[in-house]
Amino acid sequence: MLSQSFQEALNEHLKQEWYSSYLYLSMAAYCESINFPGFAHWMRLQADEEREHAMSFYRFILDRGGRVRLLAIPQPPTDFASPAAIFEQALAHEQEVTTMIGQLYSRATAEQDHASQVFLQDFVREQVEEEKTASEIVETLRMIGDNNVALLMLDRELARRGAEVSSASTA
Ligand SMILES: [Fe+2]
Ligand SMILES: [Fe+2]
Repeated sequence: MLSQSFQEALNEHLKQEWYSSYLYLSMAAYCESINFPGFAHWMRLQADEEREHAMSFYRFILDRGGRVRLLAIPQPPTDFASPAAIFEQALAHEQEVTTMIGQLYSRATAEQDHASQVFLQDFVREQVEEEKTASEIVETLRMIGDNNVALLMLDRELARRGAEVSSASTA
């Protein structure tokens, strides 16, 4: 059984994952508006992934006999300076989420809530991936600087996100 305070913390984080999804969707819409369909595609898939994270929290709270409370999702920013600024912001956001997951994990440990610890371990691992992926793109964008041809090539490359997975699964 979840403690009341930990249930609230999980509901708060459920909202946080929805916010991540909302933020990436807003970034996708912006990328599309400035004609970077590849960046937009990458961000849309990221938004889908964050929704899946939110639903994992939803499922876990219910499976533990808790009550899901859907809290208000804050409005994400709608304007961004450039694709480079967007990915810098995405990386900073993932670093914040890593801190939040770490705090949840510490609370679960303090409460000796073993099921929550095991559940959160997936997210501890996931955040390593999330930060790695975002920082690789940030590094590439820093190298690209104001080279528009290289920027368009990166846009094309990110348009392929998800294609590797589906071609592998049909092989
Ligand atoms: Fe997430
Ligand atoms: Fe994330």
